Amino acid sequence: MRTICIFNHKGGVGKTTTALNLAAGLSRHEKKVLLVDLDPQGNLDVSLKANAMHSVYDALQGQVPIEQCIVNVAKNFDMICSTETLTKMEHHLVNDEQNHGKILRNLLGKINGYDFMLIDCPPSLGMLNQDVLSFCQEAFVPVATDFLGVDALKKMPEIVATINKHFNHTLKITKVIPTMYDRRNKICKEMLALIQQTFPLQASHPIRNNTKIKEAPKYGKSIFSHAKSSPGAQDYGKLVEDVLAMGA
Ligand SMILES: Nc1ncnc2c1ncn2[C@@H]1O[C@H](COP(=O)(O)OP(=O)(O)OP(=O)(O)O)[C@@H](O)[C@H]1O
Ligand SMILES: [Mg+2]
Repeated sequence: MRTICIFNHKGGVGKTTTALNLAAGLSRHEKKVLLVDLDPQGNLDVSLKANAMHSVYDALQGQVPIEQCIVNVAKNFDMICSTETLTKMEHHLVNDEQNHGKILRNLLGKINGYDFMLIDCPPSLGMLNQDVLSFCQEAFVPVATDFLGVDALKKMPEIVATINKHFNHTLKITKVIPTMYDRRNKICKEMLALIQQTFPLQASHPIRNNTKIKEAPKYGKSIFSHAKSSPGAQDYGKLVEDVLAMGA
């Protein structure tokens, strides 16, 4: 099983959108996918109309086994939802320094039977995300093709190096995903070139700015079932193939 966090400490760069559409796309290629929402905003639960009874926080508190938090949303596609109480998890982690770096490993490490575990992270560098990064093998980094987006990306290798050193871990950035791309826009083109130059092996095709991507969560759908011929579906489709070509 590949364990992949969709991570960027910067907000609003397309993490949740990428996590959802990647999970949906991989599951349509007969891969068994578990999507884990660790963002207290709970956007994935709403976007997929999952209506979960239990969140990952209930399992963390020992109220239910983690397996009971898993809900099926489509063929080959399961998810674990979050709730706003997940903000309490940050306090939980702060007060349990001894287990820092092990809490999610103890919880999510028990799960097997999937080809991919994708984790949607909140936009922060707090304890929760440190715990996620110290658990996953791979980080996919969505980055908005604008100046501030690329500026945030520059800090990413150092963040990963610090985590690996602190937790004696081997997390790797295996994909950098340029998002919200508009080729009519000069800054987008410049920033895409810079991303490709800085991460020549990891940079994926850009995900274009596309209204259908924005609309899909309203209908509880991925871009593939909402608008299968849209530029958004084409771009996320390419990303899925790219991720599959890396091996599972
Ligand atoms: N390619 C795109 N085209 C158009 N809109 C997009 C695209 N990607 C994301 N969006 C929209 O941009 C907004 C932010 O995206 P998203 O929620 O995925 O970002 P995020 O990084 O998860 O944010 P946060 O840091 O708050 O968790 C959403 O309204 C989403 O629908
Ligand atoms: Mg998000």
